[in-house]
Amino acid sequence: MIDIEGLTKRYGAHTAVQDVSFRCEPGTVTGFLGPNGAGKSTTMRMLCGLTSPSAGRSSVLGVPFRELPNPGREVGVLLDASAQHAGRTGREILTVSARVLGVGDDRVEELLELVQLSGDRARRRAGDYSLGMRQRLGIAHALLGDPRVLVLDEPANGLDPEGIHWMRGLLRDFADRGGTVLLSSHLLHEIEAVADHLVVIAGGRIVADDSLSALLAGAGVVVRATDTAALRRALAAAELPSVTTTDGAQRVEGEAEAVGRVAAEHGLVLTELRPADRAGLEDLFLSLTTTPAERREEIAA
Ligand SMILES: Nc1ncnc2c1ncn2[C@@H]1O[C@H](COP(=O)(O)OP(=O)(O)O)[C@@H](O)[C@H]1O
Ligand SMILES: [Mg+2]
Repeated sequence: MIDIEGLTKRYGAHTAVQDVSFRCEPGTVTGFLGPNGAGKSTTMRMLCGLTSPSAGRSSVLGVPFRELPNPGREVGVLLDASAQHAGRTGREILTVSARVLGVGDDRVEELLELVQLSGDRARRRAGDYSLGMRQRLGIAHALLGDPRVLVLDEPANGLDPEGIHWMRGLLRDFADRGGTVLLSSHLLHEIEAVADHLVVIAGGRIVADDSLSALLAGAGVVVRATDTAALRRALAAAELPSVTTTDGAQRVEGEAEAVGRVAAEHGLVLTELRPADRAGLEDLFLSLTTTPAERREEIAA
């Protein structure tokens, strides 16, 4: 369980994180999503006691992180995969931490195996690892003390698609066994397949906090008619705002039934009416995290 309440961080005149509150429940993976510079790392560093907040508080398993008696045995943290000692091998890094945590060497071997860094790879210096390998080592490091909570900042960064798929399975399994996972990313596709819950941050503020299914439902419906112009007019008249998708359909923020009724009242022939799903979520994420001007630039680019 993670509880964040009103966390704020100011750097001089700049407010990096503004009144951020959310919770992560056991048995769930919470995706912490936001563009670069949104305030994800700052929030996670405050949660883990590495940056002191200007205001607000947070707790892990009911107490502030710094008051956990043996944090490594309770919370697995991966904030910066490149922070490991570059001159040590993967095995040495895990072994040193295992000693500190009071964990046996067999656990080190087990984890090297799990993150696919056993054999020759375990004997290479971490400084010679690719970013993806450093992420795998960081995940092994986070799991070493067999924690109940995982806090991972952009762990998919540098992983190839196979690596992302692997991590998804690992985190799903961790949560299904009752663990709590907080996982950040600036890319929706990296976390939508594993997160049950999404907390979206932009410009230091939380702009959405809901289950993935609720967010998907809120993404609206896609509708298509034989007479597109008449459909647009009818939706506008019914005060159901719609936007034209890239392939010429209308995306409507509303329920399928409401849209169906409008079509029926106007005698329109629909050729498609379905939940907007993934594309809708992408759209929603974009609209939550960018200003209209930034969005136009992105579309023009
Ligand atoms: N140590 C710092 N000093 C000054 N500004 C910082 C510092 N750390 C982060 N920031 C600023 O805070 C904002 C949020 O950064 P960060 O939390 O790293 O975002 P994210 O992880 O979402 O990319 C950015 O504008 C960043 O420049
Ligand atoms: Mg960051």
